[in-house]
Amino acid sequence: MVSTCKFKGRNMETGLVFLIPILHLLLLVMCPQGMEGRDIMDRRIRAKTDGDDGHETTHHGHAHHAHPSSHMHHMDHSLMIFFTLKDLKLGKTMAIYFPKRNLSKSPHLLPRVEADLFPFSSKQLHHLLQVFSFSQDSPQAKAMEDTLRHCETAPIKGEIKSCATSLESMLDFARSIFGLDNTFSVVSTTHLTNSSTHLQNYTILEEPKEVLAPKMVACHTMPYPYAVFYCHSQESMNKVYKVSLGGEDGDRVDAVAVCHLDTSQWSPNHASFQVLRIKPGSSPVCHFFPADNLVWVPTSTSV
Ligand SMILES: *[C@@H]1O[C@H](CO)[C@@H](O)[C@H](O)[C@H]1NC(C)=O
Ligand SMILES: *[C@@H]1O[C@H](CO)[C@@H](O)[C@H](O)[C@H]1NC(C)=O
Ligand SMILES: *[C@@H]1O[C@H](CO)[C@@H](O)[C@H](O)[C@H]1NC(C)=O
Repeated sequence: MVSTCKFKGRNMETGLVFLIPILHLLLLVMCPQGMEGRDIMDRRIRAKTDGDDGHETTHHGHAHHAHPSSHMHHMDHSLMIFFTLKDLKLGKTMAIYFPKRNLSKSPHLLPRVEADLFPFSSKQLHHLLQVFSFSQDSPQAKAMEDTLRHCETAPIKGEIKSCATSLESMLDFARSIFGLDNTFSVVSTTHLTNSSTHLQNYTILEEPKEVLAPKMVACHTMPYPYAVFYCHSQESMNKVYKVSLGGEDGDRVDAVAVCHLDTSQWSPNHASFQVLRIKPGSSPVCHFFPADNLVWVPTSTSV
């Protein structure tokens, strides 16, 4: 089952109660100065340098993530998430990368009152590095700088974006997209087995199911000492799917995927075009979401 929960967009308290079953791991309060957040960043940065579990920054940040074509000579496994609409059918087999990260070790979302104690601005980076005790030239400092810069970059045409540092700010953003009177729910990729293989061939086991969603908000985790989600919504048509996958080693994944029907505004250097060997606007581009990404979709029809 793909995790789903529902709540009324307007009622934050009710929303939080309903969210707890799915987000309980993320919601555990942690002290951002504590070792936990630092450890996680350290581990993630190490994993990234080792070329494994490297799906840290989103490759679907569209214009923001232009990969030079030289990149493709030794293709990053974490790019093996893209496919085209015609691949989305029962029985199709393709190589897919899923970071197998233990979600209970991810940094937790802070309550807004705590998150708001930290300035979230690259102008304050120097101060933030002192707060979190990272030296200026450390990989952690670089990761924080990259995240802040990514969050401060202007959205591309037709895109609305916001970096959420708390659950409340993520819900506020979703509410601003879907409208105050609409309900919305979250879907995410769920791993049904404990396979530790990150990249392998998966076969689509059932007819993919479309999640009817005239609008969607995708939230991607960003490397930072506490949980930061880069959330964005696009005006262009997207389709959200639930896809049941079986891996060669017996791995089972209920994956969430999105297909972007219009990619004409994306940078020609977008990684997906190089992986799929297509040009901007020539064909829909789809990708799977890793398990720690959240996809918000409206549940009422008036959006
Ligand atoms: C994930 O991490 C937690 C906390 O360290 C641990 O208790 C749990 O066994 C881990 N789960 C898996 C599947 O490795
Ligand atoms: C996965 O591992 C965890 C902890 O090691 C265990 O509790 C759980 O039953 C395992 N799940 C499956 C589907 O094998
Ligand atoms: C997937 O299967 C194809 C065809 O059998 C094979 O060439 C490829 O190496 C496999 N990919 C992975 C990641 O195992």
